[in-house]
Amino acid sequence: MKALSVAQALLWARQQLEAMDEAALDAEILLAHAIDKNRTWLKTWPEYILSEDQASRFEDFISRRRQGEPTAYIIGEQEFWSLTFKVTRDTLIPRPETELLVELALQRIPSDQMYTIADLGTGSGAIALAIASERPQATVWALDMSEPALKVAQANAESNQIDNVAFEQASWLSEWQHGLLDMIVSNPPYVAPNDPHLADLVYEPVTALVAEDKGLSDIREITQQTTGHLKPGGHLLFEHGFDQGAAVREILQQAGYEQIETVKDYAGLDRVTLGLCSKG
Ligand SMILES: C[S@@+](CC[C@H](N)C(=O)[O-])C[C@H]1O[C@@H](n2cnc3c(N)ncnc32)[C@H](O)[C@@H]1O
Repeated sequence: MKALSVAQALLWARQQLEAMDEAALDAEILLAHAIDKNRTWLKTWPEYILSEDQASRFEDFISRRRQGEPTAYIIGEQEFWSLTFKVTRDTLIPRPETELLVELALQRIPSDQMYTIADLGTGSGAIALAIASERPQATVWALDMSEPALKVAQANAESNQIDNVAFEQASWLSEWQHGLLDMIVSNPPYVAPNDPHLADLVYEPVTALVAEDKGLSDIREITQQTTGHLKPGGHLLFEHGFDQGAAVREILQQAGYEQIETVKDYAGLDRVTLGLCSKG
């Protein structure tokens, strides 16, 4: 590539990515990362000439993005709940719609009392760390069966200086031995194995995405395992697919949960279903 200024590099990249949503934003994020600056710096120095190394890094990033690799994996991080999360190919990229689950959880967690929460299938730690950052007096357990994902989550706790989170490698609550919980939250795999959207998600770990039984098998298994682990009146909250609200409500109902409701996300789609553990 010939010597290019920041402005020229961005123009070239936008043309390369023109078929993709967010081409302009991706171009800026990738260029900022390639030259180790932030996006404000790019706007301040549009005439800065990229070194050969910087230009070749940027070219490589744009070529990977053109092939469909998510920007978050190329730069190795993603913003969620105003925190910066390291992400790798072992972790799902945290999605903006998952902030609804965090919001609903926080509405139910007192800010002046001890409270114990488990985040099942924590991945990068997005949900557990967002909750823990807002409720320093609470203890949040972050569980995942994937050891590499848990290592990323632990690194994210350290980089965000959050110390009220404990980590455990386990399949859901099958080995839980830490007493009764006030709340369980989970964004489990919920994509059906034959869902056509999977074709757009080839970079993310299939174990983070896909569940049998029309995407409901993990939600069903987790719900069954919560029996005996939640305090009476404790909360269970699931993120799920836009067309799974009725099925998840029924799963919670059959397990004896009360005050079950489904909450829509900002796009108006069913996204989170929650219920209260029966007081018996
Ligand atoms: C949809 S991802 C959610 C990641 C993260 N909580 C988020 O919202 O970005 C589901 C997570 O569940 C984990 N998982 C899948 N099966 C599991 C199991 N049987 N026990 C524990 N974790 C599991 C995956 O490793 C993955 O990290």
